[in-house]
This record gives sequence, C-alpha cells and structure tokens, in this order.
Amino acid sequence: MDAFNLLKADHRKVEELFSQLESARGQAKLRVFEQIKMELELHTHIEEKIFYPALEKPKQTHDLTLEAYEEHEVVKKLLSQLGRARTANDEWEAQAKVLQENVEHHVEEEENELFPKAEAALGEEEIEALGEQMGAEKERRLRSATKSSKKSGSSKKSGSKKSASKTKSASTAAKRTGGSKKGGSKSSSKSSKTSKRSGSKKSGSKKGRR
Ligand SMILES: [Fe+2]
Repeated sequence: MDAFNLLKADHRKVEELFSQLESARGQAKLRVFEQIKMELELHTHIEEKIFYPALEKPKQTHDLTLEAYEEHEVVKKLLSQLGRARTANDEWEAQAKVLQENVEHHVEEEENELFPKAEAALGEEEIEALGEQMGAEKERRLRSATKSSKKSGSSKKSGSKKSASKTKSASTAAKRTGGSKKGGSKSSSKSSKTSKRSGSKKSGSKKGRR
C-alpha cells in the first residue's frame, strides 16, 4: 500500500471512532477514547519516524512538515490529559471536542496540502516504499504492544531494536526538542508561528464550552 493510502485509511478509521465517541455514554466513552488514543499514537509515531523525515528535505514540503510536527505535539498533549480522566465529565467532553477539531484540521491539511506536494516532491517508488515501511512499523509496534500487555513489564528490548532502520528518528527528535542540525532559525520561527496559531485557535480549550 502506498504511503498516502495507508495514512488516509488511518484517518478514516479515526474519524469513525470520533463519531462513535459522540454517541457513546459513560464508561463506554472512555473505552472509545482509549481506542482513539491508541490509533493516534500509532499514527503519529509512524509519520514522525518514517513519513515526515522524508518530507522535511524537499523545499515544497519542508514548512508544512514542520507545521505537522507541531500539530502532533498539540494532539499528544491533549491525548495525555484526556487519558488521565476517570470519568468523562463536561470539561473532558470539551477537551475531547478540541482534540477532534485539531485532528480534523490536521487531517485536512495533510490530505489537501501536504500529500499533493509530497506526491510532486517524491517519486512514486518512494511513496510506495514509505508506505511499506510504515505498514511494517505499525505491525511491529502492535506486536510488541500485544506482547507487553500479555506479560507486562517486559518491554525493555522492543524500543530500540529497529529504530535505526533507514530513518533519522533520533536526529529528528533532537531537532524537535530544540536540537541543532538544519532546523535553525527557519524552523524555529515557523514552529513558534504554528504553535501560536494552534495555541490560540484550538488548544485554548480549558474553560469548557457548554
Ligand atoms: Fe499527522
């Protein structure tokens, strides 16, 4: 499966889960949320490890990719806050709505802007190869998650084993956290712009809106 189809299939799955979240009640809501969290964590992981590093270099996709990383950060923060709740109260619902809006915005930007530019920047072969790599990484993660949930506490080894596979997740992660390389002034100005944007537009949820 090529990269775009794989990621779009993930997007559709998460959309479906968000609509289930709307209709679920009580503890069932939290169970649907757990699924959303799992899907989004897996999805952001494969994108950040495999897809985005390939899109950071080409000029056409550079800025959008940095923006996408920033949007992931907002989503991850919301997921972790929501994941700590024991009950889905009104504030939780408001925050979940903000999560949904952030994800929808991100998906729209990826599918309508980033993917077409990526298609132009990368060849068909690379898009196919990236899809294969992401599919394999997803399976690997799912397998190790199943293993570690079976005998909890045995996840020591699984983290680093394959992480050197052709991608530069470490350097990318370093860049994200303010590391050096080429990220310098351009990326940081872009980042602050985007976080300002996502900060003011979407993530200022806290107050609850109903
Ligand atoms: Fe994404």
